[in-house]
Amino acid sequence: LPVRAIAALVSLALLGGCDGVQSVLSPGGRDAQVIATLFWWMLGGAVILWLLMNGLLVYVTRIDQRAMSQRTAEALIIGGGIVFPTVVLAGLLAFALSEMPRQRDPGTGLTVRVTGESWWWRVEYLKDGATAAVVSANEIRLPAHQRSEITLNAHRVIHSFWIPALGGKTDMIPGRETRMSLEPTRAGEFRGQCTEFCGESHALMAFGAVVMEPEAFDAWLAKEAEPAAPPEGEAARRGQAIFNAEGCGACHAIRGTAATGRVGPDLTHLGGRVSLAAGILPMTEDALIRWIRDPEAVKPGARMPAYDHLGDGDLAALAAYLEGLT
Ligand code: CUA
Repeated sequence: LPVRAIAALVSLALLGGCDGVQSVLSPGGRDAQVIATLFWWMLGGAVILWLLMNGLLVYVTRIDQRAMSQRTAEALIIGGGIVFPTVVLAGLLAFALSEMPRQRDPGTGLTVRVTGESWWWRVEYLKDGATAAVVSANEIRLPAHQRSEITLNAHRVIHSFWIPALGGKTDMIPGRETRMSLEPTRAGEFRGQCTEFCGESHALMAFGAVVMEPEAFDAWLAKEAEPAAPPEGEAARRGQAIFNAEGCGACHAIRGTAATGRVGPDLTHLGGRVSLAAGILPMTEDALIRWIRDPEAVKPGARMPAYDHLGDGDLAALAAYLEGLT
C-alpha cells in the first residue's frame, strides 16, 4: 500500500503541472479537446498494455514452457503481434483522418495574420477579406464559438506558433505562408509560446491568447481599429514629447500620431494588452520602465536599444504615456 500511495502522490505532483493557461489538458478549444481526448485514450491503452505485458511476463516465468501448446503460442503471436496492433493503428488513423478536414477549414470571416519576429509576434486582424488590417503585437484575441483562420509567416528565422489550450502547433517559415484554424469553445485568458528554437530568447517568446464572447470581440476589434487617443495628464503629455524627441517612432507605430515605424511592435493600444515584451512582463508602469531602460537585461538579444541615458523622471513619464494607450 505505501508504494501505491507514493506512486499516486508522485503522479499527482507531476500531473499538477498539466493544468492551467498553457495546457493541452485543460482545453478551451475544439482542436485541443481532440488532442486531450486522444491523449487520455492512449494513456488508458498504454496502462492496459503495460499491465498485460507484465502479467504475461510473470505468467511465462511461472509455467513449464512445454505446457503451452503450439497452437496457443501461435495464436498469441498472431493475435498480439499482428491483429491487435493493426486494429489499434487503423482505429487511430481513422480518428485522425476524420478530424483533419476541420483543421483545414478556414472558418467564418476572421483571419489573424501572425508573423514571428525576433523575439516577438506581429499580429494583424483581417475581417471579411478586408485589406486594411488592424495591427497589434504580442497578443492574439479570438472570438469564442466560431472558427477563425490563422495565417503564419516569419521574418529571418523559423518559429512555431502554439496555444496549447486551443489547438495544435504550426511552424512559421520565412518566405512561406502556413495556415491553421482555431475554434475556441469558452472565453478566457490562455498563453501561447514559440515552440521552435529560434535564437537566444526563444524561451522568452510567449504571448497572451484572449478568447472573448463574439459581441465583446467585435467591440474590441472596432476600438482597436481606432487611432490612439491623445495623452491625458501632465506626465503622459511629457512622455509623448520624450517619445518623439528620442525618435521612438522610427521603429514603432502609434496610429494617429507621427510615429509610423514598422520595425518594432505597433504600440497604438499597448496599455490595453495583458502583458509586455511578448508575454514575459506584466503590463505595469514599473515593468515598462524596466523594459525601456534596458531591454537586453530582460530579453537577451532584443533588438531594441537601451534608453538608460534617460533619468527616472523621464522614464516614468514615457511609461505613463505608453500605459495610457488603451
Ligand atoms: Cu521564436 Cu522560438
